[in-house]
Amino acid sequence: MRETSVKGIILAGGLGKRLSPLTKITNKHLLPIYDKPMIYYPIQLLVDAGIKDILIVTGGHHAGEFLRLLGNGHGFGLKHLNYTYQEGEGGIAQALGLARHFAGESRIVVVLGDNLMEYGIREYVDHFRAQKSGGRVLLKEVEDPERFGVAALKGKRIVSIEEKPKKPKSDHAVTGVYMYDANVFDIIKTLRPSHRGELEITDVNNAYIRRGDLQFDIVKGWWADCGTFNSLLRANQLVAKQNHYGRQA
Ligand code: G1P
Repeated sequence: MRETSVKGIILAGGLGKRLSPLTKITNKHLLPIYDKPMIYYPIQLLVDAGIKDILIVTGGHHAGEFLRLLGNGHGFGLKHLNYTYQEGEGGIAQALGLARHFAGESRIVVVLGDNLMEYGIREYVDHFRAQKSGGRVLLKEVEDPERFGVAALKGKRIVSIEEKPKKPKSDHAVTGVYMYDANVFDIIKTLRPSHRGELEITDVNNAYIRRGDLQFDIVKGWWADCGTFNSLLRANQLVAKQNHYGRQA
């Protein structure tokens, strides 16, 4: 296995408009999920996977609150946390582009700040570390794939990913955990804004597919995002249940 340094990036910008008025006076990623602010979960996910060098990309009107809440990350056993600020609403891939300087030649694990998983991602990160190059996405079967990026699979290969398709080709949603080699930043430079005016992470993943260099794992246990009132409620219920009854094997 080729051992290279892997850095973590958490994308926690945006205005969270779908959750207004909750997000009028705070950032979406600071809203509570059961007994902790949402942002705690992606940080813990990275730390549990052995990733200690972490950048948080935030934005919007309440970015200063992240510093007040997290400081240098001592609560997670970190010595230091890095921050950067996304001006405007350019999309997930644009936010990721701001991490170029931080990433340097390292490989990166990117987590959307509103994504939670029942179990850790260490196993998947180890698969990524063993890859010679390219990217890796985590998929999960869902009942409402039209809300997500959706992967069309052919055996052990992803042949395409469509962003929020009206007629999904499968029920495999692309979760908000993405792993990339340093080529990702050159790929981002080639992107054009989508119809919603954003640089889409799905376009980044499709660029890796065209290079024949995108691998995947299917996530064990539940996966939740918190972009809507219903998914926010579901995430709270799942975490509350897990804390109360302990993890199911
Ligand atoms: C984003 C991505 C989508 C992915 C989802 C996971 O969607 O664009 O491909 O499936 O995150 O949470 P958004 O949260 O911007 O609707």
